[in-house]
Amino acid sequence: MSDHAALTLPRTAPFDAEQISALDRVIGASNPLQRAWLTGFLAGLDAAAGKAAAPAAPAVKIPLLILYGTESGNTEALAGRAKQEAARRGFSARVADMADTDIDALKNAGNLLLIVSTWGDGEPPQRAAMFYRALMADSAPRLDGLAFSVLALGDSSYAQFCETGRVMDARLEALGATRIAPRLECDLDYEAPAQDYIRSLLETLTPDAGSVIHVDFHKSSDVPSAISKATPLAAPISAHHLLTSSRSDSATYHVELDLAGSGLTYEPGDSLGVLPENDPREIAALKRAAGLGEDRSIDAALSSRLDIATLTPKLIADYATLTNDAALADLSKDEVKRAAFIEGRQVIDLLESFAHQLSAAQLSGLLRPLQPRYYSIASSQKLVGEEAHLTIARLAYESAGRARQGVASTMLADRRRAGENLNIFVKPNTHFRLPEDPAASIIMVGAGTGLAPYRAFLQEREATKARGPSWLIFGHRTFTHDFLYQLEIQDWVERGIITDLDLAFSRDQPEKRYVQHALWAKRDALKARLDDGATLYLCGDAKHMARDVEAMLKNILGETESEGQDKLDGLIRAGRYKKDVY
Ligand SMILES: Cc1cc2nc3c(=O)[nH]c(=O)nc-3n(C[C@H](O)[C@H](O)[C@H](O)COP(=O)(O)OP(=O)(O)OC[C@H]3O[C@@H](n4cnc5c(N)ncnc54)[C@H](O)[C@@H]3O)c2cc1C
Ligand SMILES: Cc1cc2nc3c(=O)[nH]c(=O)nc-3n(C[C@H](O)[C@H](O)[C@H](O)COP(=O)(O)O)c2cc1C
Repeated sequence: MSDHAALTLPRTAPFDAEQISALDRVIGASNPLQRAWLTGFLAGLDAAAGKAAAPAAPAVKIPLLILYGTESGNTEALAGRAKQEAARRGFSARVADMADTDIDALKNAGNLLLIVSTWGDGEPPQRAAMFYRALMADSAPRLDGLAFSVLALGDSSYAQFCETGRVMDARLEALGATRIAPRLECDLDYEAPAQDYIRSLLETLTPDAGSVIHVDFHKSSDVPSAISKATPLAAPISAHHLLTSSRSDSATYHVELDLAGSGLTYEPGDSLGVLPENDPREIAALKRAAGLGEDRSIDAALSSRLDIATLTPKLIADYATLTNDAALADLSKDEVKRAAFIEGRQVIDLLESFAHQLSAAQLSGLLRPLQPRYYSIASSQKLVGEEAHLTIARLAYESAGRARQGVASTMLADRRRAGENLNIFVKPNTHFRLPEDPAASIIMVGAGTGLAPYRAFLQEREATKARGPSWLIFGHRTFTHDFLYQLEIQDWVERGIITDLDLAFSRDQPEKRYVQHALWAKRDALKARLDDGATLYLCGDAKHMARDVEAMLKNILGETESEGQDKLDGLIRAGRYKKDVY
């Protein structure tokens, strides 16, 4: 649908009646992308010929809204860089977080670059959820005047790859907006394709692309600090010990890193990226399955550069093509069978089930790059100085008849000791910070390693003598074997740094008791604290704990689920409900 009526030239325009009617026909039927292009084209034409109209017309800037939805900051960083690039190319660009954006803002945006990630099992990032719901709602406004492009971030090992980007892309079109360029879905190595996409989008929107000066994205002023994912710090491990008792059926480790002289700094709430190495036994097993038992040429790549475990639809398709195996091709094409095969299985299961001799180059060509793992920093530099502490749960489970081990967590638990180095970088999380006011009341809810950032918060409050009420609600399996940092927590209680402590040990009584049950038991106090302005934090397991806690919070805060949701939404909008769940 075009908005003909609104788009006619004023009769006072410096054209004769025939020209006005011809222009009305073209402009009235144009879409926003065409109009943006035309505006810039005409401005650029005269400028290029050195014939800017006299008196000089104000430079026409193409409007661009760069809207991001993020959980861990990747899309936010891309949006910031896109804005710099757009500004250099003469756009009137602004960046907005979906968390702070009203859906009506899209109506007059002109051009939209939407950058969004997918979390949970195909869900939007939590702070973007309100915007997402408003876009999906029947009450969403028509967006006929909008031209848009969607850049979706995700991880192809998830069944719902880039789902949020897909859904938002389709919805924008359904609401009448015009797509500028097809959606790009990026996997974990998103930086280069995302930057190419942004560059090409800006070129599409730039009227006279030939005269544009090409700027290297990496030379922008927000270049990451010298220590990054690409150039990590080799930090010595200065302490390494088990936090859980040897009789616990889970194992959680405390790891301290020495940052002396590195200049690396962080804030409570930030995470540390750790570059893992694969277990040599898993590497040997994979090589055997590929018929490469004696070939050492790819050992280094298999150790630290390639993901030898994660099985994705793309890997199955590539293996089918490479081997010309009809059964594999069938599996690859049948979505249901393929998903059932992938569930609980890894690359080695595929190579063993469909055995073929591979060359080293063929094997490495199948595997995706090994990704860093993130760990909440469990310390405050105001207390520990040039150190960073981590709390690592060792991941081990059984699936498809085989014992499996998490790559990074077992490396940290079993194959690294004090004195050895760990390759790390800091991943800031500006959305999970303590309130600036030291007197502000905080409520920290977490289970298992969800305690880690709260240890950082509490160290910070201790070091800065912040005396705001600090309520910790912590859960794990048993008091005796799994009470992480028990002595420190008891000490903080005695010294009034933790003002309220509630514990939920699920296996200490016949019926299961989790943090959400502790919240229910204290629901009146919880409501009172929130009414008084407290900030609520939730950290730890996303699949079970966070989902159950959130359902309980809605139950406590509202008479109905939707009223509870509204209350939580209000807290998110006010920056008083912050989640770091994984
Ligand atoms: C922001 C953030 C902060 C984090 N903070 C911490 C922290 O403080 N402490 C901490 O220990 N972890 C933390 N994590 C999790 C951590 O990053 C890793 O995901 C975790 O250590 C597992 O990594 P891994 O390499 O050992 O396992 P991987 O080799 O990555 O294996 C994990 C995969 O195994 C599969 N899997 C796991 N369990 C099962 C099962 N029971 N059945 C079938 N398949 C299964 C899933 O596909 C899962 O994705 C955090 C994550 C994020 C994103
Ligand atoms: C706990 C967790 C769940 C995720 N779930 C999905 C998913 O369902 N689908 C997907 O495509 N990507 C998923 N991802 C990958 C993220 O979308 C990806 O890491 C993205 O780059 C994050 O961008 P952000 O930092 O802007 O949120 C998940 C990542 C984590 C850590």
